[in-house]
Amino acid sequence: MAWKTLDDMDLAGKVALVRVDVNVPMENGKVTDATRIERIVPTITDILAKGGKPVLLAHFDRPKGKVVPEMSLRQVVPALQAALPGIKVTFASDCIGGPAKIAIAEMGDNEVVLLENTRFHAGEEKNDPMLAASLAALGEVYVNDAFSAAHRAHASTEGIARLLPSCAGRLMQAELSALEAALGTPQRPVVAVVGGAKVSTKLDLLGNLVTKVNHLIIGGGMANTFLVAQGIEVGKSLAERDMAETALAILAKADQSGCAIHLPKDIVVAREFKAGAASEVLPVTECPADAMILDAGPATVANITEVFSASRTLIWNGPLGAFEIEPFDAATNAAAQKAGALTAEGALISVAGGGDTVAALNKAGVADQFTYISSAGGAFLEWMEGKDLPGVAALKG
Ligand code: 3PG
Ligand code: MG
Repeated sequence: MAWKTLDDMDLAGKVALVRVDVNVPMENGKVTDATRIERIVPTITDILAKGGKPVLLAHFDRPKGKVVPEMSLRQVVPALQAALPGIKVTFASDCIGGPAKIAIAEMGDNEVVLLENTRFHAGEEKNDPMLAASLAALGEVYVNDAFSAAHRAHASTEGIARLLPSCAGRLMQAELSALEAALGTPQRPVVAVVGGAKVSTKLDLLGNLVTKVNHLIIGGGMANTFLVAQGIEVGKSLAERDMAETALAILAKADQSGCAIHLPKDIVVAREFKAGAASEVLPVTECPADAMILDAGPATVANITEVFSASRTLIWNGPLGAFEIEPFDAATNAAAQKAGALTAEGALISVAGGGDTVAALNKAGVADQFTYISSAGGAFLEWMEGKDLPGVAALKG
């Protein structure tokens, strides 16, 4: 690996500035999903075990360079404390200057300091060297454990890494190793599932994947765009009709690269977009003009599970249908369950990421069976697109 880990660092008695992503969903001031918080625990406990003093840098939401009290990180302190039994969690009301310096100077053993939202300073998103220097001045070592924010070139994710001895935290390490195993040097055949609403948001992703994977399964609304491009009518379905040429170009590129594209063979259609709406299964070429495609049908699912069975590695981003409403979650659930079962048998390495995807896998009850579920949304996509993530690149020095 081109970057250092905590194992390479001397941390005894040193202040370790740890960039974490605790941009967690909240409702009425309470954290509703603490996954991202739980995942940074190994980094914090390993730093403490090595005699270091962990000081957490993080953003929350998008305050756009101003102090927005509703976006204070103070709100995540109870959830962070709950994830770190036996460790004292202290909060500092600014990520630089007096409040940060005092909290750090007063740190005792077995204590972690969380600094206020870095995005309260305009210099964070501008990657301002002055802010990076003020942050760096607070500690002696920089640890980046925020893979899910690594697609942002910000002062606390990129600039600071250039100013201090730096390394990847345990979560960053796990994310990078899992993604490397899925797409860098994977066991073949590799199958990718890409779903979701729009082709236009996943163009770079599809273009990169067809050159890397053996099979590409396209689902969700974006499959309709490919069907339309091939002259198949999709009625009132979501489809980007102006993307037809782009879709054909992706199909041609796949063909040249030896990547097999799998589109729906049969469809589940309904007249209303609501849970329990009357639906029917039809061949893909027979979508009525007044109906919309809300899921893939059983023949498509059978094809998908066959491809999964013949593959060694699976990378998944995006649901196959309107998984939020029943019964249009059926294809996503069935495919996810097959992937989970094959993984549990040791037959498949399965990696998934992206907000909707993780929600869909949780709903299907198989998230635990997957080899790795990324904590990242946008960063996972950009990584799958083959882009260099600034936060990762900066660790390479
Ligand atoms: C995320 O929630 O995806 C990350 O924390 C990045 O947040 P951002 O999209 O506001 O940069
Ligand atoms: Mg986001």
